[in-house]
Amino acid sequence: MVTVDARNLPSHVGIIMDGNGRWAQGRGLERVEGHRKGSAAVRRIVRAGRRLGLRALTLYAFSEQNWERPELEVDALMALLRDFLLSERDEILDNGIRLNAIGNIGRLPALVRAVLDPLRHESEGNEQMTLTLALSYGGREEIAHAARELARLVASGKMKPEEVTTESLRGWMPSLSVGDPDLVIRTGGERRISNFLLYGLAYAELHFADVLWPDFTEDDLYAAIASYQQRERRFGRVPSQSSEPVAAALEGMTASVTRIAV
Ligand code: FPP
Repeated sequence: MVTVDARNLPSHVGIIMDGNGRWAQGRGLERVEGHRKGSAAVRRIVRAGRRLGLRALTLYAFSEQNWERPELEVDALMALLRDFLLSERDEILDNGIRLNAIGNIGRLPALVRAVLDPLRHESEGNEQMTLTLALSYGGREEIAHAARELARLVASGKMKPEEVTTESLRGWMPSLSVGDPDLVIRTGGERRISNFLLYGLAYAELHFADVLWPDFTEDDLYAAIASYQQRERRFGRVPSQSSEPVAAALEGMTASVTRIAV
């Protein structure tokens, strides 16, 4: 049994959901079947994250580079995304979840936009948890977009070059509207970041799980969070230096903790 410290939860968890294709191929099935099973895992993990009390969950559902996949696979992923949004709509709204999307949303087909846009709008006041789907998303593309916006402001004289700082840049990064990711999980055994949340990753804790995404369970999520809770987050400082994040990290380590068994 895994124990998770309810007082030291990562506020923002990002997940690179990898391994759908291998899951299917290992069973002699079409890759699309892996994505279908992967969709079920998304439902499971969103529920678990909400129950646990995560403030924000960002799922890498489709990268800007994924458009290069065979057309049949892209179409199947878009259809699964639409099905997910339709079937989860009530649960999202009833549970106070705000549905958010980041990436090049304008590139998504109308069949997805027709369900995504209204649900984003309907759920925008919800405060229990923000579920962000990264769709047609790339971390480098997001940084380039932010740089372009700041360049425009400087060129028009609305901003001074000296005002281009790490903070002003982050203000143009939709992925960070819910704060930097504290924990990023990648399933499927590979140890790489694949253009996910690049700017926000600066001090994120990384957790690599060998399990393929369709097999990722609530217990695997709890294990990732428990592993995060074992780490000492220093944000580039040494532990004796007092600062808010360090103090918070230390409090999590030293205080008598409320543990929840999950
Ligand atoms: C990576 O696995 C996964 C994707 C490119 C798509 C992720 C999509 C889902 C989990 C389902 C639909 C999403 C939602 C939000 C309902 P891969 O295909 O690269 O796997 P492989 O590395 O084994 O080939």
